[in-house]
Amino acid sequence: MLNVVLFGPPGSGKGTQSAKLIEKYGLVHLSTGDILRAELAAQTELGKEAKRYMDKGELVPDHVVIGMIGRKLDENGKVNGFIFDGFPRTTSQAEALDTLLAGKNTSITLMVALDVPHEELVKRLLNRGKESGRADDQNVEVIENRIRVYHRETAPVIQYYEARNKFYPINGVGSIDEIFSRLCEVIDRHK
Ligand code: AP5
Repeated sequence: MLNVVLFGPPGSGKGTQSAKLIEKYGLVHLSTGDILRAELAAQTELGKEAKRYMDKGELVPDHVVIGMIGRKLDENGKVNGFIFDGFPRTTSQAEALDTLLAGKNTSITLMVALDVPHEELVKRLLNRGKESGRADDQNVEVIENRIRVYHRETAPVIQYYEARNKFYPINGVGSIDEIFSRLCEVIDRHK
C-alpha cells in the first residue's frame, strides 16, 4: 500500500493537491477537516462539539479525530492506499495512526510537507472565504489563530516523521500543476 501524509499549514494546498493525487495514484482521500464539516452540516452531536473548536481555529480533541479516522479505515477495507490530509495534527495523533495502520499490517510510506510563507497563506484563505463562505476563512483573527495553532501543536509532527526518515519538504509556492509535479517526483521514488 501507498500511504501518504500530506502535511502543511492552513491554506498550503493540501486539499487541492489531494484531489489530483487520489486520481493519479488511485488512493482514498481521508481529510479530517472535510469529515468534520460533513458532521457539522448533518448537525450530528460530533459535529456540534467540533464546531466549538473549529469556529475559533483551535484543534478538535485528539480522541474525537482519532476515533473518526479509525472508523474510516475500517470502512475502506481493500484499497491501494490512503492520502491523509490534515491528519495527524499532533504527535499523539501520529502515534495513534501508526498503531491503527499496524493493526492492518501496513504503515505510513512518507510525509510530504507543503512549505508556503505566512502572507501567502493568509491571502489564499481570505480569498477562498469570499467565495466559499467557509466559516473559519471569514475572519483574519481566526485565520491567524489557525496558523499559530499549526506552529505550536502541529509542526512538531514533522520531527516525528523526520526521526523515521519519512519527511519530505516541498516548495508549496507556484502553479497548482508545478507543485503537483514536485509531489509526484517524491512519491514516485517511494512507490
Ligand atoms: P482543515 O479542513 O484541515 O483546514 P486547514 O488545515 O485549515 O486547511 P485548509 O483546508 O484551509 O487548507 P489546505 O491546506 O487544504 O489548502 P487548500 O487546498 O484548501 O481543518 C479545519 C479545522 O478542522 C481545523 O482548524 C480544526 O479545528 C479541525 N481539524 C481538522 N483536522 C483536525 C485534526 N486532525 N485534529 C484536530 N482538529 C482538526 O487551498 C486553500 C486555498 O488556496 C484554496 O482557495 C485554493 O484554491 C488555493 N490554492 C491552492 N493551491 C494554490 C496555489 N498553488 N496557488 C494559489 N492558490 C492556491
